[in-house]
Amino acid sequence: MTMVTMNTAPGNLAGLSDVVARRFGLHFPPERWRELGRGLASAARELGFKDAQACGQWLLSATLTRPQIDILASHLTVGETYFLRDAHMFDILERHILAPLIASRTGADQRLRLWSAGCATGEEPYSIAVILNRLLPARAGWDVTILATDINPSALHAGRTGRYRSWSFRQTPPEFRTNYFAETGDGSCVIQPRFRQMVTFAYLNLADDLYPALLNNTCAVDLICCRNVLMYFSDEQRQRVIERFLRCLTDDGWLILSTAEVPNTAAPGLRTVTLDGLTLYRKAPAARAAAEQPAWGAASASSAPPARPVAAHASPPAPTPAADCACAEQCCAAGQYVAAANVLTRLLARVPEYPPAILLMARTCANQGHLTDARRWIERAAELDKLNPAIHYFWSTILQEEGHLPACRAALRRALYLNPHFILAHFMLGSLAFQQGDAHMSGQHFDTVLALLDTMADTDVVPESDGLTAARLRQIVAGMAPRRAPA
Ligand SMILES: C[S@@+](CC[C@H](N)C(=O)[O-])C[C@H]1O[C@@H](n2cnc3c(N)ncnc32)[C@H](O)[C@@H]1O
Repeated sequence: MTMVTMNTAPGNLAGLSDVVARRFGLHFPPERWRELGRGLASAARELGFKDAQACGQWLLSATLTRPQIDILASHLTVGETYFLRDAHMFDILERHILAPLIASRTGADQRLRLWSAGCATGEEPYSIAVILNRLLPARAGWDVTILATDINPSALHAGRTGRYRSWSFRQTPPEFRTNYFAETGDGSCVIQPRFRQMVTFAYLNLADDLYPALLNNTCAVDLICCRNVLMYFSDEQRQRVIERFLRCLTDDGWLILSTAEVPNTAAPGLRTVTLDGLTLYRKAPAARAAAEQPAWGAASASSAPPARPVAAHASPPAPTPAADCACAEQCCAAGQYVAAANVLTRLLARVPEYPPAILLMARTCANQGHLTDARRWIERAAELDKLNPAIHYFWSTILQEEGHLPACRAALRRALYLNPHFILAHFMLGSLAFQQGDAHMSGQHFDTVLALLDTMADTDVVPESDGLTAARLRQIVAGMAPRRAPA
């Protein structure tokens, strides 16, 4: 095989590795520059460049579109995976995590949300589906989702197809293949439909600031399995991902990394749990301890998220509703939804008709996966403050999560009637039209989004977005642009 290398000055490679770290999270220190050069050299052809040099020069200053990101991701990432990779971990997952979780939810809140982040070609999420099906074969009355995300679209396509060759079973007991797959006669086999239906594959770049979000089902997750992914990330990006994961998790939710990744992982709010010699992570009970504090104890002027319990004052100053709301916002931002709900419950006991608290309570419930409660709160907020576009926008996100798309669009139109410049309402209507293949309608909304973003600085945060910057939203819309209809 001919080795394709890239004849690029070290300065350029340093710049390129910066770009790749920013856009994909991937870390290419000097000892991996040859590998980076090889990846870019093979991507160059697909991107239409005559050689790697030209491709590298372009990449240093390019605004990447989504198809270009897809091509680069498929050449720069490592997709190594197989069924039941690390059998010990799957055994622990079954006996110590999923079985007790199912027992605790049975007859109560019958929902389970599991996420394989960096799922590659699907062997990991399907392994989880098989285990879950064994523990909970009858799922009527349950709301169970297994989300499988990756940055590499060809890996996602392979996962959706569910077709595998023997290499995917290289360390898997033979009965796994015979019991859960159908042979196709050409040496490969396909996962049985009942397991395929359990897994939803979706594109998600972990280096993007787009999670947790109701829009991509990354809120109120009980378990995130992100193994053999963050080991390729820079320290800074790894930390950002872990902090975002924390916000995605329910209280007491689990995070599973691979053994190699464990020594590099720590975050306030994340505690380690060792089960049968394997180190796993759980969202820390500090969140709950904080929740037990009096609301005004936590409502300090500090802008830091309340990751630790805040000491109670002997005679606390009386809180204002706005200060309590700010405190609850901070708890939400830190992923401490129970703490936020406690602050808001006490506030609403004192001031029952305070719309900002009611809206925040709706968001807090939705972030924990309690959609019925979220809907009840948002309806109450709309009764009290029906001219507030943010309430109708947030209502639309709940309706979307519940799968009520016509009602979701109607709520977005109400938000736009009240505020025609509501960027996220345009973005969401554009995304819904885009998903339905309506290129004309999505194009109109995306053009409006871009025009509105032009009035903002790159680092400005888009209103109601939980921290999404104008520059990022511009990139996201640009990534969808090539599939829009010509004007
Ligand atoms: C080595 S595979 C791990 C597969 C599986 N989790 C396992 O442990 O067997 C790493 C996967 O992470 C994905 N990945 C790398 N960077 C990513 C990013 N920024 N966002 C999402 N996925 C990413 C790659 O595309 C690849 O499919």
